[in-house]
Amino acid sequence: MFNKRTKIKELLSAEITGQEAIVMGWVRTFRNNQFIALNDGSCNQNLQVVASLGLLDDETLKRITTGASLKVIGELVPSLGKGQSVELKATSIEILGDCDPEKYPLQLKNRPSLEYLREIAHLRFRTNTFGAVFRIRHSLAYAVHKFFNDKGFVYLHTPIITSSDAEGAGEMFRVTTLPFDNAPRNEDGNINFKEDFFGKSTNLTVSGQLEGELAAMALSDIYTFGPTFRAENSNTTRHLAEFWMIEPEMAFYDIEDNMNLAEEFIKYIIQYAMDNNRDDLEFLAQRLLDEEKQLPQDKRSELGLIEKLEFVVSNAFERITYTEAINILLESPTYKKKKFKYEVQWGIDLQSEHERYLVEKHFKKPVIVTGYPAAIKAFYMRMNEDGNTVAAMDILAPGIGEIVGGSQREERLDKLIERMNKMHVPVDEMQWYLDTRRFGSVPHAGFGLGFERMVQFVTGMTNIRDVIPFARTPKNCEF
Ligand code: 4AD
Ligand code: MG
Repeated sequence: MFNKRTKIKELLSAEITGQEAIVMGWVRTFRNNQFIALNDGSCNQNLQVVASLGLLDDETLKRITTGASLKVIGELVPSLGKGQSVELKATSIEILGDCDPEKYPLQLKNRPSLEYLREIAHLRFRTNTFGAVFRIRHSLAYAVHKFFNDKGFVYLHTPIITSSDAEGAGEMFRVTTLPFDNAPRNEDGNINFKEDFFGKSTNLTVSGQLEGELAAMALSDIYTFGPTFRAENSNTTRHLAEFWMIEPEMAFYDIEDNMNLAEEFIKYIIQYAMDNNRDDLEFLAQRLLDEEKQLPQDKRSELGLIEKLEFVVSNAFERITYTEAINILLESPTYKKKKFKYEVQWGIDLQSEHERYLVEKHFKKPVIVTGYPAAIKAFYMRMNEDGNTVAAMDILAPGIGEIVGGSQREERLDKLIERMNKMHVPVDEMQWYLDTRRFGSVPHAGFGLGFERMVQFVTGMTNIRDVIPFARTPKNCEF
Protein backbone atom coordinates (compact mmCIF):
# COMPACT_ATOMS: atom_id res chain seq x y z
CA MET A 1 0.00 0.00 0.00
CA PHE A 2 2.63 2.51 0.99
CA ASN A 3 4.78 2.23 -2.11
CA LYS A 4 2.03 3.74 -4.23
CA ARG A 5 2.44 7.11 -2.59
CA THR A 6 3.92 10.04 -4.46
CA LYS A 7 6.23 12.50 -2.76
CA ILE A 8 4.98 16.06 -2.52
CA LYS A 9 8.09 17.46 -4.20
CA GLU A 10 7.33 15.38 -7.25
CA LEU A 11 3.67 16.42 -7.36
CA LEU A 12 4.46 20.11 -7.05
CA SER A 13 7.24 20.11 -9.62
CA ALA A 14 5.39 18.02 -12.21
CA GLU A 15 2.31 20.26 -11.99
CA ILE A 16 0.16 17.43 -13.33
CA THR A 17 -3.58 17.81 -12.87
CA GLY A 18 -6.62 15.66 -13.55
CA GLN A 19 -5.00 12.58 -12.05
CA GLU A 20 -5.40 10.62 -8.83
CA ALA A 21 -2.59 10.65 -6.28
CA ILE A 22 -1.88 9.15 -2.89
CA VAL A 23 0.14 11.33 -0.52
CA MET A 24 1.28 10.85 3.03
CA GLY A 25 2.72 13.35 5.41
CA TRP A 26 2.26 15.43 8.52
CA VAL A 27 -0.22 18.25 9.02
CA ARG A 28 1.39 21.66 9.31
CA THR A 29 -1.86 23.63 9.59
CA PHE A 30 -5.57 23.03 9.20
CA ARG A 31 -7.76 26.02 8.32
CA ASN A 32 -11.52 26.49 8.11
CA ASN A 33 -12.12 22.74 8.62
CA GLN A 34 -11.20 22.44 4.96
CA PHE A 35 -7.62 23.33 4.01
CA ILE A 36 -4.79 21.09 5.18
CA ALA A 37 -1.17 22.09 4.62
CA LEU A 38 0.59 18.76 4.36
CA ASN A 39 4.38 18.28 4.46
CA ASP A 40 6.29 15.06 3.89
CA GLY A 41 9.85 16.37 4.18
CA SER A 42 10.61 15.96 0.48
CA CYS A 43 10.68 19.73 0.06
CA ASN A 44 10.09 22.90 1.97
CA GLN A 45 6.70 23.56 0.38
CA ASN A 46 3.48 22.07 1.71
CA LEU A 47 0.81 20.50 -0.43
CA GLN A 48 -2.60 22.05 -0.02
CA VAL A 49 -5.14 19.29 0.58
CA VAL A 50 -8.77 20.32 0.30
CA ALA A 51 -11.29 18.36 2.31
CA SER A 52 -14.64 19.42 0.86
CA LEU A 53 -17.37 20.10 3.36
CA GLY A 54 -19.20 16.88 4.16
CA LEU A 55 -16.31 14.55 3.25
CA LEU A 56 -15.38 13.89 6.87
CA ASP A 57 -17.44 13.44 10.00
CA ASP A 58 -16.89 15.75 12.98
CA GLU A 59 -14.94 13.10 14.87
CA THR A 60 -12.33 12.79 12.11
CA LEU A 61 -12.15 16.54 11.54
CA LYS A 62 -11.19 17.01 15.18
CA ARG A 63 -8.31 14.61 14.77
CA ILE A 64 -6.73 16.58 11.94
CA THR A 65 -4.37 18.61 14.08
CA THR A 66 -0.91 20.07 13.59
CA GLY A 67 1.59 17.20 13.69
CA ALA A 68 -0.90 14.40 12.93
CA SER A 69 0.08 12.06 10.10
CA LEU A 70 -2.30 11.41 7.22
CA LYS A 71 -2.83 9.28 4.17
CA VAL A 72 -4.78 11.21 1.59
CA ILE A 73 -6.19 9.98 -1.70
CA GLY A 74 -7.49 12.60 -4.04
CA GLU A 75 -7.51 14.27 -7.39
CA LEU A 76 -4.84 16.76 -8.45
CA VAL A 77 -6.50 19.97 -9.54
CA PRO A 78 -5.18 23.40 -10.52
CA SER A 79 -4.95 25.53 -7.40
CA LEU A 80 -6.80 28.77 -6.96
CA GLY A 81 -4.79 29.74 -3.91
CA LYS A 82 -1.56 31.63 -4.32
CA GLY A 83 1.86 30.06 -3.82
CA GLN A 84 1.16 26.75 -5.48
CA SER A 85 0.06 25.53 -8.88
CA VAL A 86 -1.68 22.29 -7.87
CA GLU A 87 -3.63 21.10 -4.88
CA LEU A 88 -5.16 17.79 -3.90
CA LYS A 89 -8.93 17.53 -3.75
CA ALA A 90 -9.32 14.73 -1.22
CA THR A 91 -11.65 11.79 -1.80
CA SER A 92 -10.46 9.97 1.30
CA ILE A 93 -8.42 10.97 4.34
CA GLU A 94 -7.10 8.42 6.78
CA ILE A 95 -5.41 9.42 10.02
CA LEU A 96 -2.31 7.30 10.47
CA GLY A 97 -1.11 8.84 13.72
CA ASP A 98 -2.90 11.25 16.04
CA CYS A 99 -1.09 14.21 17.56
CA ASP A 100 -2.44 15.75 20.73
CA PRO A 101 -2.55 19.52 20.05
CA GLU A 102 -2.42 20.27 23.77
CA LYS A 103 0.92 18.54 24.10
CA TYR A 104 2.56 18.97 20.68
CA PRO A 105 5.46 21.40 21.11
CA LEU A 106 5.55 22.71 17.55
CA GLN A 107 2.72 25.17 17.24
CA LEU A 108 2.76 28.08 14.86
CA LYS A 109 1.78 30.62 17.46
CA ASN A 110 4.76 30.07 19.75
CA ARG A 111 7.63 29.73 17.32
CA PRO A 112 10.18 27.55 19.13
CA SER A 113 13.78 28.78 19.42
CA LEU A 114 16.68 26.87 17.85
CA GLU A 115 17.98 26.13 21.36
CA TYR A 116 14.67 24.66 22.45
CA LEU A 117 14.45 22.55 19.29
CA ARG A 118 17.82 20.97 20.08
CA GLU A 119 16.18 19.46 23.14
CA ILE A 120 13.38 17.90 21.10
CA ALA A 121 15.61 16.60 18.33
CA HIS A 122 13.05 14.07 17.13
CA LEU A 123 10.64 16.87 16.28
CA ARG A 124 13.03 19.51 15.05
CA PHE A 125 13.27 17.70 11.71
CA ARG A 126 9.62 18.71 11.24
CA THR A 127 10.40 22.41 11.10
CA ASN A 128 11.03 24.32 7.87
CA THR A 129 14.45 25.42 9.05
CA PHE A 130 15.77 21.98 9.89
CA GLY A 131 14.10 20.37 6.91
CA ALA A 132 16.04 22.79 4.73
CA VAL A 133 19.30 22.37 6.66
CA PHE A 134 19.28 18.58 6.49
CA ARG A 135 18.25 18.40 2.85
CA ILE A 136 21.16 20.72 2.05
CA ARG A 137 23.49 18.69 4.26
CA HIS A 138 22.51 15.63 2.26
CA SER A 139 23.15 17.38 -1.06
CA LEU A 140 26.56 18.57 0.07
CA ALA A 141 27.51 15.03 1.14
CA TYR A 142 26.40 13.68 -2.20
CA ALA A 143 28.36 16.41 -4.01
CA VAL A 144 31.49 15.48 -2.04
CA HIS A 145 31.31 11.92 -3.34
CA LYS A 146 30.46 13.05 -6.84
CA PHE A 147 33.35 15.50 -7.01
CA PHE A 148 35.97 12.94 -5.98
CA ASN A 149 34.43 10.05 -7.86
CA ASP A 150 34.43 12.05 -11.08
CA LYS A 151 38.11 12.81 -10.56
CA GLY A 152 39.00 9.14 -10.06
CA PHE A 153 39.62 9.26 -6.32
CA VAL A 154 39.08 6.11 -4.24
CA TYR A 155 36.77 6.48 -1.23
CA LEU A 156 38.77 4.97 1.62
CA HIS A 157 37.23 3.83 4.90
CA THR A 158 39.78 4.58 7.57
CA PRO A 159 39.36 3.12 11.06
CA ILE A 160 37.31 4.76 13.78
CA ILE A 161 39.18 3.03 16.57
CA THR A 162 42.95 3.60 16.35
CA SER A 163 46.04 3.45 18.50
CA SER A 164 47.62 6.60 17.06
CA ASP A 165 47.13 10.29 17.66
CA ALA A 166 47.22 11.58 14.08
CA GLU A 167 47.37 15.23 15.05
CA GLY A 168 49.69 14.72 18.02
CA ALA A 169 47.45 17.06 19.98
CA GLY A 170 46.31 14.57 22.62
CA GLU A 171 42.63 15.43 22.32
CA MET A 172 41.38 11.86 22.21
CA PHE A 173 38.51 9.84 23.61
CA ARG A 174 39.84 6.62 25.06
CA VAL A 175 38.35 3.31 23.95
CA THR A 176 38.66 0.59 26.58
CA THR A 177 36.92 -2.39 28.13
CA LEU A 178 39.03 -2.27 31.29
CA PRO A 179 37.10 -1.82 34.54
CA PHE A 180 37.31 1.69 36.04
CA ASP A 181 37.50 0.68 39.64
CA ASN A 182 39.91 -2.20 39.31
CA ALA A 183 42.08 -1.68 36.23
CA PRO A 184 45.07 -4.03 35.94
CA ARG A 185 48.33 -2.25 36.72
CA ASN A 186 52.01 -2.71 35.95
CA GLU A 187 54.61 -2.87 38.68
CA ASP A 188 55.20 0.84 38.25
CA GLY A 189 51.53 1.53 39.02
CA ASN A 190 50.53 2.53 35.48
CA ILE A 191 47.52 0.89 33.84
CA ASN A 192 48.48 -2.29 31.99
CA PHE A 193 46.94 -1.87 28.56
CA LYS A 194 48.24 -5.26 27.51
CA GLU A 195 45.16 -6.56 29.32
CA ASP A 196 42.84 -4.22 27.44
CA PHE A 197 40.65 -5.38 24.53
CA PHE A 198 43.19 -4.58 21.84
CA GLY A 199 46.24 -5.32 23.98
CA LYS A 200 47.28 -1.67 23.78
CA SER A 201 45.97 1.80 24.48
CA THR A 202 43.34 2.84 21.91
CA ASN A 203 41.19 5.87 21.13
CA LEU A 204 38.58 7.22 18.72
CA THR A 205 40.19 8.71 15.64
CA VAL A 206 40.95 12.43 15.44
CA SER A 207 41.75 12.13 11.72
CA GLY A 208 42.03 9.44 9.06
CA GLN A 209 44.96 11.19 7.41
CA LEU A 210 47.84 8.91 8.38
CA GLU A 211 46.01 5.80 7.21
CA GLY A 212 44.94 7.77 4.14
CA GLU A 213 48.58 8.50 3.32
CA LEU A 214 49.32 4.77 3.25
CA ALA A 215 46.62 4.20 0.66
CA ALA A 216 47.60 7.25 -1.43
CA MET A 217 51.13 5.82 -1.65
CA ALA A 218 49.62 3.04 -3.77
CA LEU A 219 46.29 4.23 -5.18
CA SER A 220 47.47 7.79 -5.94
CA ASP A 221 44.31 9.69 -5.00
CA ILE A 222 42.02 8.78 -2.11
CA TYR A 223 39.58 10.55 0.14
CA THR A 224 37.95 9.72 3.44
CA PHE A 225 34.59 10.99 4.65
CA GLY A 226 33.74 9.87 8.12
CA PRO A 227 33.15 10.72 11.74
CA THR A 228 35.99 12.26 13.69
CA PHE A 229 36.24 12.75 17.44
CA ARG A 230 37.97 15.43 19.45
CA ALA A 231 37.91 15.72 23.20
CA GLU A 232 38.76 19.43 23.14
CA ASN A 233 36.86 21.30 25.77
CA SER A 234 35.75 24.07 23.41
CA ASN A 235 32.22 25.26 23.95
CA THR A 236 31.93 27.43 20.86
CA THR A 237 29.62 27.79 17.86
CA ARG A 238 32.32 26.11 15.69
CA HIS A 239 33.33 23.03 17.68
CA LEU A 240 31.79 19.60 18.04
CA ALA A 241 33.21 16.62 19.91
CA GLU A 242 31.96 14.40 17.06
CA PHE A 243 32.11 15.89 13.59
CA TRP A 244 32.46 14.66 10.02
CA MET A 245 35.59 15.33 8.05
CA ILE A 246 36.52 14.89 4.40
CA GLU A 247 40.22 14.16 3.93
CA PRO A 248 41.60 13.79 0.41
CA GLU A 249 45.22 12.65 0.10
CA MET A 250 47.06 12.85 -3.21
CA ALA A 251 50.38 11.40 -4.33
CA PHE A 252 52.49 13.58 -6.64
CA TYR A 253 50.91 16.80 -5.33
CA ASP A 254 52.67 19.82 -3.88
CA ILE A 255 51.17 22.57 -1.76
CA GLU A 256 50.13 24.55 -4.84
CA ASP A 257 48.24 21.58 -6.34
CA ASN A 258 46.69 21.05 -2.93
CA MET A 259 45.39 24.61 -2.72
CA ASN A 260 44.00 24.43 -6.25
CA LEU A 261 42.13 21.22 -5.50
CA ALA A 262 40.71 22.51 -2.21
CA GLU A 263 39.46 25.70 -3.85
CA GLU A 264 37.90 23.83 -6.76
CA PHE A 265 36.30 21.34 -4.36
CA ILE A 266 34.72 23.98 -2.13
CA LYS A 267 33.34 25.88 -5.11
CA TYR A 268 31.99 22.70 -6.64
CA ILE A 269 29.98 21.58 -3.64
CA ILE A 270 28.59 25.07 -3.04
CA GLN A 271 27.54 25.29 -6.69
CA TYR A 272 25.93 21.85 -6.38
CA ALA A 273 23.76 23.05 -3.50
CA MET A 274 22.85 26.22 -5.40
CA ASP A 275 21.77 24.17 -8.40
CA ASN A 276 19.84 21.54 -6.45
CA ASN A 277 18.53 23.20 -3.28
CA ARG A 278 17.31 26.56 -4.51
CA ASP A 279 14.06 26.64 -2.52
CA ASP A 280 15.72 25.58 0.69
CA LEU A 281 18.49 28.15 0.25
CA GLU A 282 15.96 30.89 -0.44
CA PHE A 283 14.08 29.91 2.69
CA LEU A 284 17.26 29.99 4.78
CA ALA A 285 18.35 33.29 3.21
CA GLN A 286 15.09 34.86 4.36
CA ARG A 287 15.45 33.26 7.80
CA LEU A 288 18.92 34.77 8.16
CA LEU A 289 17.66 38.16 7.07
CA ASP A 290 14.91 38.01 9.70
CA GLU A 291 17.35 36.87 12.36
CA GLU A 292 19.79 39.65 11.56
CA LYS A 293 17.09 42.32 11.77
CA GLN A 294 17.57 42.19 15.53
CA LEU A 295 21.26 43.03 15.21
CA PRO A 296 22.76 46.53 14.96
CA GLN A 297 23.53 47.55 11.36
CA ASP A 298 27.30 46.95 11.60
CA LYS A 299 26.81 43.37 12.83
CA ARG A 300 24.62 42.35 9.88
CA SER A 301 26.01 40.51 6.85
CA GLU A 302 26.81 42.75 3.91
CA LEU A 303 25.59 40.14 1.44
CA GLY A 304 22.51 37.93 1.59
CA LEU A 305 23.13 34.19 1.89
CA ILE A 306 22.74 33.44 -1.80
CA GLU A 307 24.73 36.48 -2.95
CA LYS A 308 27.50 35.39 -0.59
CA LEU A 309 27.58 31.89 -2.09
CA GLU A 310 27.51 33.28 -5.61
CA PHE A 311 30.36 35.60 -4.77
CA VAL A 312 32.46 32.76 -3.36
CA VAL A 313 32.03 30.46 -6.35
CA SER A 314 32.82 33.18 -8.87
CA ASN A 315 35.90 34.78 -7.29
CA ALA A 316 39.40 33.44 -6.67
CA PHE A 317 40.28 32.87 -3.03
CA GLU A 318 42.94 35.21 -1.68
CA ARG A 319 46.29 33.48 -1.07
CA ILE A 320 48.72 34.91 1.47
CA THR A 321 51.53 33.66 3.69
CA TYR A 322 51.32 33.51 7.44
CA THR A 323 53.97 36.24 7.63
CA GLU A 324 51.85 38.50 5.40
CA ALA A 325 48.82 37.72 7.57
CA ILE A 326 50.68 38.78 10.72
CA ASN A 327 51.79 42.01 9.04
CA ILE A 328 48.23 42.81 7.97
CA LEU A 329 47.04 42.24 11.53
CA LEU A 330 49.83 44.41 12.99
CA GLU A 331 48.87 47.23 10.66
CA SER A 332 45.13 46.95 11.26
CA PRO A 333 43.13 49.65 13.05
CA THR A 334 41.83 46.92 15.36
CA TYR A 335 45.38 46.15 16.51
CA LYS A 336 46.33 49.79 16.81
CA LYS A 337 43.28 50.45 18.94
CA LYS A 338 44.25 47.40 21.06
CA LYS A 339 40.94 45.75 20.23
CA PHE A 340 42.29 42.20 19.72
CA LYS A 341 41.93 40.09 22.82
CA TYR A 342 44.93 37.90 21.98
CA GLU A 343 48.43 39.13 21.21
CA VAL A 344 49.68 39.45 17.63
CA GLN A 345 53.29 38.61 16.82
CA TRP A 346 55.10 36.24 14.48
CA GLY A 347 54.86 32.75 15.93
CA ILE A 348 51.36 32.91 17.44
CA ASP A 349 48.64 30.48 16.47
CA LEU A 350 46.06 32.67 14.71
CA GLN A 351 43.04 33.07 16.96
CA SER A 352 39.52 33.11 15.64
CA GLU A 353 39.36 36.93 16.04
CA HIS A 354 42.47 37.24 13.82
CA GLU A 355 41.13 34.88 11.19
CA ARG A 356 37.85 36.71 11.11
CA TYR A 357 39.55 40.07 10.77
CA LEU A 358 41.43 38.80 7.74
CA VAL A 359 38.43 37.32 5.92
CA GLU A 360 35.58 39.56 7.05
CA LYS A 361 37.21 42.98 7.40
CA HIS A 362 40.34 42.95 5.28
CA PHE A 363 39.81 40.69 2.25
CA LYS A 364 36.04 40.09 2.48
CA LYS A 365 36.43 36.69 0.84
CA PRO A 366 37.89 33.25 1.61
CA VAL A 367 41.62 33.35 2.27
CA ILE A 368 44.22 30.59 2.02
CA VAL A 369 47.09 31.10 4.44
CA THR A 370 50.33 29.17 3.87
CA GLY A 371 53.77 28.89 5.45
CA TYR A 372 52.90 28.66 9.14
CA PRO A 373 55.63 28.47 11.80
CA ALA A 374 56.69 24.83 12.19
CA ALA A 375 56.34 25.03 15.97
CA ILE A 376 52.55 25.45 15.90
CA LYS A 377 51.74 22.82 13.27
CA ALA A 378 51.56 19.01 13.19
CA PHE A 379 54.65 16.82 12.83
CA TYR A 380 53.83 15.50 9.34
CA MET A 381 53.95 18.86 7.54
CA ARG A 382 56.81 19.46 5.11
CA MET A 383 59.60 21.74 6.31
CA ASN A 384 60.18 24.72 4.02
CA GLU A 385 63.63 25.76 2.80
CA ASP A 386 63.85 28.40 5.54
CA GLY A 387 63.91 25.61 8.17
CA ASN A 388 61.41 27.61 10.17
CA THR A 389 58.04 27.37 8.44
CA VAL A 390 56.08 24.42 7.04
CA ALA A 391 54.07 23.89 3.85
CA ALA A 392 50.75 24.17 5.68
CA MET A 393 47.59 25.69 4.26
CA ASP A 394 44.51 26.75 6.17
CA ILE A 395 41.44 28.04 4.36
CA LEU A 396 39.54 30.69 6.27
CA ALA A 397 35.94 31.48 5.42
CA PRO A 398 33.84 34.55 6.29
CA GLY A 399 31.64 33.95 9.31
CA ILE A 400 33.32 30.64 10.05
CA GLY A 401 37.07 31.03 10.37
CA GLU A 402 39.12 27.90 9.63
CA ILE A 403 37.17 25.58 7.36
CA VAL A 404 40.07 23.58 5.87
CA GLY A 405 43.41 22.55 7.35
CA GLY A 406 45.96 20.86 5.10
CA SER A 407 49.57 20.60 4.05
CA GLN A 408 52.17 19.11 1.80
CA ARG A 409 53.55 16.18 3.77
CA GLU A 410 57.16 15.64 4.79
CA GLU A 411 58.21 12.88 2.41
CA ARG A 412 61.92 12.86 3.43
CA LEU A 413 62.46 10.15 6.04
CA ASP A 414 65.33 11.81 7.90
CA LYS A 415 63.57 15.16 8.12
CA LEU A 416 60.35 13.51 9.28
CA ILE A 417 62.05 11.53 12.04
CA GLU A 418 63.88 14.64 13.15
CA ARG A 419 60.59 16.50 13.45
CA MET A 420 58.86 13.65 15.25
CA ASN A 421 61.61 13.49 17.83
CA LYS A 422 61.46 17.23 18.34
CA MET A 423 57.69 17.09 18.85
CA HIS A 424 57.76 13.98 21.05
CA VAL A 425 55.80 11.84 18.61
CA PRO A 426 56.57 8.16 19.40
CA VAL A 427 58.76 7.11 16.46
CA ASP A 428 58.83 3.42 17.52
CA GLU A 429 55.06 3.06 17.34
CA MET A 430 54.88 4.80 13.97
CA GLN A 431 57.05 2.50 11.89
CA TRP A 432 54.01 1.51 9.82
CA TYR A 433 53.70 5.17 8.83
CA LEU A 434 57.41 5.75 8.29
CA ASP A 435 57.52 2.78 5.92
CA THR A 436 55.75 4.95 3.32
CA ARG A 437 58.88 7.13 3.35
CA ARG A 438 61.19 4.12 3.11
CA PHE A 439 59.74 2.34 0.12
CA GLY A 440 59.10 4.60 -2.83
CA SER A 441 58.31 7.82 -1.03
CA VAL A 442 56.79 10.57 -3.17
CA PRO A 443 55.85 14.21 -2.70
CA HIS A 444 52.23 14.21 -1.56
CA ALA A 445 49.68 16.46 0.03
CA GLY A 446 46.17 16.54 1.42
CA PHE A 447 43.69 18.48 3.49
CA GLY A 448 40.75 18.10 5.82
CA LEU A 449 37.44 19.91 5.36
CA GLY A 450 35.23 20.11 8.45
CA PHE A 451 31.90 19.06 6.98
CA GLU A 452 29.70 20.79 9.57
CA ARG A 453 31.58 24.06 9.14
CA MET A 454 30.93 23.76 5.42
CA VAL A 455 27.23 23.11 6.04
CA GLN A 456 27.19 26.16 8.32
CA PHE A 457 28.74 28.27 5.60
CA VAL A 458 26.18 27.18 3.02
CA THR A 459 23.09 27.33 5.24
CA GLY A 460 24.06 30.46 7.18
CA MET A 461 23.30 28.74 10.49
CA THR A 462 25.18 30.50 13.28
CA ASN A 463 25.64 27.54 15.60
CA ILE A 464 27.35 24.32 14.50
CA ARG A 465 24.95 22.36 16.74
CA ASP A 466 22.19 23.30 14.29
CA VAL A 467 23.72 21.64 11.24
CA ILE A 468 24.23 18.13 12.66
CA PRO A 469 21.25 15.92 13.52
CA PHE A 470 22.48 14.96 16.98
CA ALA A 471 25.18 17.24 18.37
CA ARG A 472 27.85 16.03 20.77
CA THR A 473 29.50 18.84 22.73
CA PRO A 474 31.07 19.10 26.20
CA LYS A 475 28.53 18.00 28.84
CA ASN A 476 25.95 17.20 26.19
CA CYS A 477 25.22 13.80 24.66
CA GLU A 478 21.44 13.52 24.38
CA PHE A 479 19.62 10.94 22.26
O1 4AD B 1 42.98 21.34 10.95
P1 4AD B 1 42.62 19.94 11.33
O2 4AD B 1 42.88 19.53 12.73
O3 4AD B 1 43.41 19.03 10.30
C1 4AD B 1 43.46 17.67 10.31
O4 4AD B 1 42.85 16.93 11.04
C2 4AD B 1 44.32 17.12 9.21
N1 4AD B 1 44.62 15.72 9.52
C3 4AD B 1 43.61 17.28 7.88
C4 4AD B 1 44.41 16.75 6.75
O5 4AD B 1 45.37 17.39 6.33
N2 4AD B 1 44.06 15.59 6.20
O6 4AD B 1 41.08 19.68 11.01
C5 4AD B 1 40.59 19.85 9.70
C6 4AD B 1 39.27 20.61 9.72
C7 4AD B 1 39.36 22.01 10.32
O7 4AD B 1 39.82 22.94 9.38
C8 4AD B 1 37.92 22.26 10.72
O8 4AD B 1 37.15 22.65 9.59
C9 4AD B 1 37.45 20.87 11.13
O9 4AD B 1 38.33 19.94 10.55
N3 4AD B 1 37.45 20.70 12.60
C10 4AD B 1 36.34 20.71 13.35
N4 4AD B 1 35.04 20.85 13.04
C11 4AD B 1 34.14 20.80 14.04
N5 4AD B 1 34.47 20.59 15.34
C12 4AD B 1 35.77 20.46 15.72
N6 4AD B 1 36.07 20.23 16.99
C13 4AD B 1 36.77 20.50 14.69
N7 4AD B 1 38.11 20.38 14.69
C14 4AD B 1 38.50 20.52 13.41
MG1 MG C 1 43.67 23.08 11.78
